[in-house]
Amino acid sequence: MQCGSECNGEGVDNRTTGLRLPRLAQHTISASAPWAFSGGPACHCSAPQKDADLRLSLSGTKMAKVSGLRRIMKDVALTMAGSHDGQWIDLTIGNPAPIPEVSKMWQAVMADALAKDFDVASCRYGQSRGHDSLLSAIARYFNNKYDWHLTNDNIVVAAGCQMLSFAAATLFTGPLANGMRRIVLPIEPDYTGYHNLSLHDDCITGISPRLRTRGDRHFDYELDIKALEGERAIGMLMLSNPANPTGRSLTREELECIVRLAESRGFPVLIDHAYGLPFPQVTTPQTSPIWHPNVINCFSVSKAGIPGERIGFAVGRPAYIDAIASFVSNSILHAPQLAQMALKRALDGGELDRLSKMIINPYYLKKQQFAENLLLKTLPQSLPWRIHSGRGGMFCWLWIDHPQFDDEEFYDRLRQRKAFIMPGRHFFVNRLHVGEHCKRCLRISLSADEKILSAGIARIAKTLEEIATWARSERTVP
Ligand SMILES: Cc1ncc(COP(=O)(O)O)c(C=O)c1O
Repeated sequence: MQCGSECNGEGVDNRTTGLRLPRLAQHTISASAPWAFSGGPACHCSAPQKDADLRLSLSGTKMAKVSGLRRIMKDVALTMAGSHDGQWIDLTIGNPAPIPEVSKMWQAVMADALAKDFDVASCRYGQSRGHDSLLSAIARYFNNKYDWHLTNDNIVVAAGCQMLSFAAATLFTGPLANGMRRIVLPIEPDYTGYHNLSLHDDCITGISPRLRTRGDRHFDYELDIKALEGERAIGMLMLSNPANPTGRSLTREELECIVRLAESRGFPVLIDHAYGLPFPQVTTPQTSPIWHPNVINCFSVSKAGIPGERIGFAVGRPAYIDAIASFVSNSILHAPQLAQMALKRALDGGELDRLSKMIINPYYLKKQQFAENLLLKTLPQSLPWRIHSGRGGMFCWLWIDHPQFDDEEFYDRLRQRKAFIMPGRHFFVNRLHVGEHCKRCLRISLSADEKILSAGIARIAKTLEEIATWARSERTVP
């Protein structure tokens, strides 16, 4: 694989990393699997495939680019697939943990849908908005739970929250006659999957958070509402709540500020509840979803156990929902229908609710406490690291506030110990503004079982110890 001009040949991006630690060993890149390195660091250069005949459009050029995160995911996938010694540990995973009770429920409703609805669901095209029986089940469910007044006109089903976010980004943001209307992430860091939703360059930005430390080893991000209000060219606000990667959720006051701003300036706020209420409750948000004419609420069953089925839905005022339904129609016709029939059963029977509250939520709470206790016990005391405060969640988010720490360099070093984490910078769009902080964070997935998680955390601790030792010795150098 060709390294682009940004790559110094040792897998370190010259623009972002002044190499501070002793250099890593030279890596050898396998010709057949360019991402399968033996014993060395991964290459982060972003050389898109060049093909003179491709003749990509402007938006095509943008969408054909491989993001830094996708390159990491490819590195992880190829390395894991090419290794049969079982020693690699992947703590990058965004898949939900395999929880037997949850899998059993989905298998049962899928089997029932397959037995009874195969003809209507799988052998015919359906409505772009979603199958009527699922739309009615969703309306009943939210009306009962939150006393909303939904009809089928308030709902659109699509192939996951990702697709809904892409549809909304395309509909509500981009160039206008009087300038660019951007996707604005009100509080960074947020889900990396938002960064490339727009077909246009320079169409997304994020508001840097305020940092608040708590005790010796914890910290929080806080919404900077003044900075958000100062953002002039907002086409749509978009946020995950609770957030990937931190598990942070908006307070009632923050939510009200955001919605007031949207109402006064007339743009939509897309709130992505992929981890929150009412399901899957991977973490418990501080506020329930709210109904408001400027809010598009997006829900997904991916983190509730079936990411491969690609089912999510949006709830909002009919004008927003009609536009998204047309987008679904124009792009994919409609979402998979057998999974829609299964979701209808899981909602109507109350099983999705019960499992979210009784099984999924306690599972992740316990997992997070387990990981946090291990981190507190094993990470080097001499480094100023902190964990983002959380109430459960699929990830731990660490901040290592030391000038010697660089997230991508750490990825490479940990890779040499056969473990993977997500470097933090990929969760920030506005990297220039947030400065060094984004390079001093990392995300650890909690989806692996406790044994693997413990082994991974032990390798993280060793690698950080190496940095701590080097930093100590460096300080004594005159
Ligand atoms: C915050 C967030 N939103 C959306 C998605 C994707 O959801 P879906 O599978 O419903 O498209 C993810 C996946 O990791 C996510 O973390």
